[in-house]
Amino acid sequence: MGWLRCRSGIALQRHRFSVQKAATIRSPCVVFMEIYLLVLLQVSSCIISIVEGLPFPAPNLDNCLEFETCCTPILSIAKPTAPIKFKFQTYLPRRIRPAAHLVDDAYIAKYQRAVERMKALPDTDGRSFTNQWKLHCLYCDNHLYFENETHPYPLEIHKSWLFYPWHRLFVYFHERILARLIDDDTFALPFWNWDNQSPELPQGNVVPKVYAEKRSLYADCINTTSSLYDETRNPCALLPEGMVSFQNPESCPARANASEVRASNAHATFVQVVGVGVTPLLFHGGPYRLGDEGGGGSGAMEVVPHGTVHHWVNQKKMVSYRDSAADPIFFAHHANMDRLWEVWKTLPGGIRKDVSDPDYLNTEFTFYDENGGLVTVSVAQALQLDLLRYKYQEVANPWLANGAAPGNFNSEWKMCNSEINSRSQIAALIANTKPLQDPVNFTMGPLTFKVERNPNCSPEYGEEMLEVIAEVDNREPFAITAYAFHPEAWIGESFGCGEYLGNMGSAPHRGMSPTLRQGEFVMRIGIRRQLELIGMEHEASLVVTLTGSAENLKSILITGARVIYSKE
Ligand code: C2O
Repeated sequence: MGWLRCRSGIALQRHRFSVQKAATIRSPCVVFMEIYLLVLLQVSSCIISIVEGLPFPAPNLDNCLEFETCCTPILSIAKPTAPIKFKFQTYLPRRIRPAAHLVDDAYIAKYQRAVERMKALPDTDGRSFTNQWKLHCLYCDNHLYFENETHPYPLEIHKSWLFYPWHRLFVYFHERILARLIDDDTFALPFWNWDNQSPELPQGNVVPKVYAEKRSLYADCINTTSSLYDETRNPCALLPEGMVSFQNPESCPARANASEVRASNAHATFVQVVGVGVTPLLFHGGPYRLGDEGGGGSGAMEVVPHGTVHHWVNQKKMVSYRDSAADPIFFAHHANMDRLWEVWKTLPGGIRKDVSDPDYLNTEFTFYDENGGLVTVSVAQALQLDLLRYKYQEVANPWLANGAAPGNFNSEWKMCNSEINSRSQIAALIANTKPLQDPVNFTMGPLTFKVERNPNCSPEYGEEMLEVIAEVDNREPFAITAYAFHPEAWIGESFGCGEYLGNMGSAPHRGMSPTLRQGEFVMRIGIRRQLELIGMEHEASLVVTLTGSAENLKSILITGARVIYSKE
């Protein structure tokens, strides 16, 4: 208990994935802990697990700080009863969530009707469409908080390991409410298969008809405009042939570039899921426990493609944490994220498993269930897909197959550095590149440096990762792209390049703790798979180039970079 008391009064975070040290009052207890941690860190160069902090208990939705007018309607709801603990509804039929681009008009009509009824519910009902999107807002931007001896700790479900389970449960209850409203327990939400780059019709990586159709497809509709249509979407997303671009979310790729965009999207998906997210924490995101000032960093897919798909489809709503879930396509977007999480777990490697930390498993959330009552659910429950009784329609994941076998480099994923055609050119590039010495202000990216590897490190050491340490202003968004052996890479360099290693980044959240503003940020990405694909896995040094946009990078100081090996 002494340990916990000590923990609760301080803001020292020793995240294995992303460290944000907040400067708060240093009690003797804090100093002791810092020394203790330092000693632990000294005795081993490996990453050490220390379970500290606590799981988040189910939040009370009334403990809401008003930043963005998300609390009020929820507060005014006459809640029928105190929250009950969620029990698996094993009596439900098993639902198959269909690919959104493959559903027929009968399905569209049924789904439209369900959402129309949800939109017609009064705001005194927690199941109303408004309350649904406001619930997402509540869990974002630090609206909800927990009382503490010293100050309230806010809860934020992005940028940490809570990202996947929270969104899974949010989509789950949304689906159950819709099913209840049309009295059909077989109803399952569709998933937006934006990772499917096939040009065959109907395409997966455009806004599917179910959301693009303007008209209500059933006779007794209240409204002739489809409840799933949102006119605030970006112009490109409203075009029937408007294709998602993970790299340039504000662009409307011309037909002439279509195959390039497809290759870039496929490669980005492959790199983030297969290459970057090789361990539980790299895929899910950093640790985040009660008492932490913020989440430990985003997992492999949260920035790209998750964030860029949000941005591409709707800049009015989907680009803000507050309004995201007010566009119905949000739910299909997150169903696809949820599906890809399951796909990820089937990949070889042995350590692509869910996080097993008890603080993760025992964290709880509060939702409205299909009866309009409050229900509390644990992360451990969210992991039991079988008992939640839904799964996904099987679809091909060609981006996965293309790069699955070592050395099987897909020729569409071209090498972009034309200067390198031989081993002697690689050797010269390595010899001419300096390691990072002093901290570098990144405003003027691209930034090229070399880091040493241990290319023959045995698997017992864990997965190979590039770790970049930076001082950042957490109020500023940033996105950094990393390339290997490609010093000419520029801000617009394609994600389709073989040299593309992955993305790291952060988006600011309103209402965050003031102590979080300036902090150290540790970004990690798995790199071994990408190096194998381009035949560079045996080089003892890695030449890294980081690019990012100047506007976003004004507050970043890169203080270190290295290659590490870890199983976490
Ligand atoms: Cu809560 Cu896609 O975001």
